[in-house]
Amino acid sequence: MTKVKTNTKKYKLDAKEQFLIETGISDYNGIKPRMTKKFKQIGRFTEILADKLAQSGATNQKRVKVIDIGAGKGYMTFAIYNYLAKHNLDPVIHAVDFNSDLMKLGNETANKCGFENLSFISDFADQYSGLTYYDAVVSLHACDTATDDALFMGLKMKSKVILCAPCCQKEVLLSLKEKKSLSKFIKHGLFLHKMADIITDNSRVMLLQSQGYHVDIIDFVATEHTQKNTLIAATKKRGKQPAFYETYKSYKSEISFDGIKLEQMMLDEGLLS
Ligand SMILES: C[S@@+](CC[C@H](N)C(=O)[O-])C[C@H]1O[C@@H](n2cnc3c(N)ncnc32)[C@H](O)[C@@H]1O
Repeated sequence: MTKVKTNTKKYKLDAKEQFLIETGISDYNGIKPRMTKKFKQIGRFTEILADKLAQSGATNQKRVKVIDIGAGKGYMTFAIYNYLAKHNLDPVIHAVDFNSDLMKLGNETANKCGFENLSFISDFADQYSGLTYYDAVVSLHACDTATDDALFMGLKMKSKVILCAPCCQKEVLLSLKEKKSLSKFIKHGLFLHKMADIITDNSRVMLLQSQGYHVDIIDFVATEHTQKNTLIAATKKRGKQPAFYETYKSYKSEISFDGIKLEQMMLDEGLLS
């Protein structure tokens, strides 16, 4: 795992793109001030995805398929579709979120923009049954274990690229809160949250590595645009690397937490033994 700066050429997103206007990020005067942070996030995320897709060879294909988990209003989904379409990569993008109203709105907006291979699907991430093969799995701030669901999809399909910016990692936080020994030393809830975030995401990195993924951890935007600015960027490089799972198990016992949903899903699927 390395912390890197990507060297992508700047991807200049034009504020007058129809999808930005339709989704309410901009109007004919430009980016709405209250949407500047989201605009920065989706621009930078798309830029990094473009870089990773190119490195993985996916951009040599005639068509690139992407799935977006916890898509919400689809700001990022539209940005990725727009980018791939403009680069003649004939995109197919499926966006999944359990919020059916937002998925309906997303489909209406996709129609208005003429994004014919973009579909918004109302479902829970861990119940989505339309999984075939996607070159990339992405998620931007999918809540709590929905990020594990996204990572698992990518691992199960052996996607070329998995890009997830996690959010509100509650699962490990709950087990840390139960540890009386820890509360003697950590009095501030904020520290416990930060610790849970790091343990969760570090576990995710090791589990990705166990399946032969190279993982970069990137501060993808400045914290003024979001505090949740960690991006897990994984690219499939080789076959399974069981030693990383052994390291994860030692980590779990050393830190003494119960493990994360991703591990359980991988065990159930037979990806780990
Ligand atoms: C913080 S919003 C992020 C939305 C969008 N990706 C963005 O960055 O603008 C998180 C979204 O994840 C969805 N979500 C959370 N858990 C989910 C799950 N288990 N399955 C499907 N969607 C989920 C929520 O409905 C919400 O729309």
